[in-house]
Amino acid sequence: MNALLEVKDVGKRYGTVVALRDVSTVVNAGEVTCVLGDNGAGKSTLIKILAGVHQHDEGEFLVEGAPVRFASPREALDRGIATVYQDLAVVPLMSVWRNFFLGSEPTVGFGPFRALDRRKGRELTKKALAEMGIDLRDVEQPVGTLSGGERQCVAIARAIHFGAKVLILDEPTAALGVKQAGVVLKYVAQARDRGLGVVLITHNPHHAYPVADRFLLLKRGAALGSYEKTEIDLPELTRQMAGGAELEALEHELRQAEAS
Ligand SMILES: Nc1ncnc2c1ncn2[C@@H]1O[C@H](COP(=O)(O)OP(=O)(O)OP(=O)(O)O)[C@@H](O)[C@H]1O
Ligand SMILES: [Mg+2]
Repeated sequence: MNALLEVKDVGKRYGTVVALRDVSTVVNAGEVTCVLGDNGAGKSTLIKILAGVHQHDEGEFLVEGAPVRFASPREALDRGIATVYQDLAVVPLMSVWRNFFLGSEPTVGFGPFRALDRRKGRELTKKALAEMGIDLRDVEQPVGTLSGGERQCVAIARAIHFGAKVLILDEPTAALGVKQAGVVLKYVAQARDRGLGVVLITHNPHHAYPVADRFLLLKRGAALGSYEKTEIDLPELTRQMAGGAELEALEHELRQAEAS
């Protein structure tokens, strides 16, 4: 079976800045691929390639086994690749249900008599959210009144409702407290259990570890490591993230210099 997404030795330059080089990973249906790395590591650059915002300069990007080069985010979306950005691009004063549809609201009548079907819109939103265990008192309330975690959950439910095959989340837990981060991770796991391939970007190994099936560690644009979950435990992942191996190598060198 082909992976939903696969990148092979992908590279990307912004002018003279090498943002990404020789990065490879896969995203399978029903699995979570987690991309970890410090600020400026290239995480957002990688997902922007997957999402059709940028194009790679080197290597290959395959969707369900076929090489692609998306010209726009719309093309990626048409292939079922939905991306939830950190700022979410929601309209804060608009109701939850209008944000849920954002331009694809159900209508009644046709031609010049077409009108928003508010009742249906509200019901569909409530149902889609309830299916994910999200119980909002009122889907008429402005989305701006929701907590950061609830907003992330609405965005995830939206992607699932509109038939996404791949869900990309750029640091969904970065601005959240412990409890809210836990709730968002629960929905990430739900999306996975529904058979979506998920790409989760974070720089917190504690958020990544429980839900991920594989880890891609980036550092200054290059892959520092790529592991299946069975190959690495949380302490080792944390150590790698903290640059533990480099520190040890440095210590070792210093000791050898002393000894000679
Ligand atoms: N549009 C751009 N033009 C020029 N350089 C860019 C552009 N976007 C990103 N870069 C550079 O590419 C590198 C990788 O950036 P990227 O945003 O992918 O990092 P990141 O891992 O997402 O970091 P963060 O954790 O801070 O979000 C950085 O050095 C950044 O300055
Ligand atoms: Mg980023």
